[in-house]
Amino acid sequence: MDRDKISRLSRAGHPVNSPLDDESVRRLLRRTVDRGGERVLDLGCGEAAWLLRTLAEHPGVTAEGVDTSAPSLARARKEAAGLGVGQRLVLHHADAAEFTSPHLFDAVLSVGATHAFGGLLPTLDAARRHLAPDGRVLVGDAYWEREPGAEARELLGEYEDLATTMDRVAAHGWTPVFGHLSTRQELDDFEWYWTGSLAAWALDHPEDPDSAEILDIAATHRSQWLRGYRESFGFLTLVLRRTPA
Ligand SMILES: C[S@@+](CC[C@H](N)C(=O)[O-])C[C@H]1O[C@@H](n2cnc3c(N)ncnc32)[C@H](O)[C@@H]1O
Repeated sequence: MDRDKISRLSRAGHPVNSPLDDESVRRLLRRTVDRGGERVLDLGCGEAAWLLRTLAEHPGVTAEGVDTSAPSLARARKEAAGLGVGQRLVLHHADAAEFTSPHLFDAVLSVGATHAFGGLLPTLDAARRHLAPDGRVLVGDAYWEREPGAEARELLGEYEDLATTMDRVAAHGWTPVFGHLSTRQELDDFEWYWTGSLAAWALDHPEDPDSAEILDIAATHRSQWLRGYRESFGFLTLVLRRTPA
């Protein structure tokens, strides 16, 4: 099964590929890019949904995105051209952990991609390397809303509770200037979009050779979510500035 087919179908119609609704994305971006002439970098940008919004809203902003998924970047390029912002967007097909740039950036985003760096703190280290002295970081990652069971840990990996996560971020030299905890509705919507979009596509395309497998993937994912991690999974998106030394 082509992983990109799953990724493309499963995120259809959702504002970004993370558990955040339209209004939350807008509020978080407003706190991150508010001057209008910024240079913005997204590490693990996927289809560049965060950057495309920013570029469409601020004609003076320029942006770069980094992702290892060539098909996602191709869709981002197409969407950028359609929005008329392609001239201000550079996309790099690269490992975000290895990415280097001659510029510093006023804002560095990385939402739902901390696994690319080995966790939240290494993601913040990577962001710091690219960040202008008075820049802002927008980072989104999981935390445990409740003590997880063994299955949740096995499916999702290791996280901390919210207060511990925030303590670690602060001890790492960052000051939160805004934040958003994904609501129950945002968390559930994200899963319903994921599983529902796949299932609907499979039902609409019974002739497709992948149709039965896609239906099965949607059902397995739904069961893992409901039995494995729905009660323990939380998602936190922070706007951070460096804490003065
Ligand atoms: C959950 S998606 C989030 C995409 C985007 N940040 C958003 O919120 O819409 C995670 C993204 O990280 C990308 N990714 C995973 N490992 C990566 C790596 N080592 N370097 C760059 N991107 C990576 C995936 O291809 C995927 O597009």
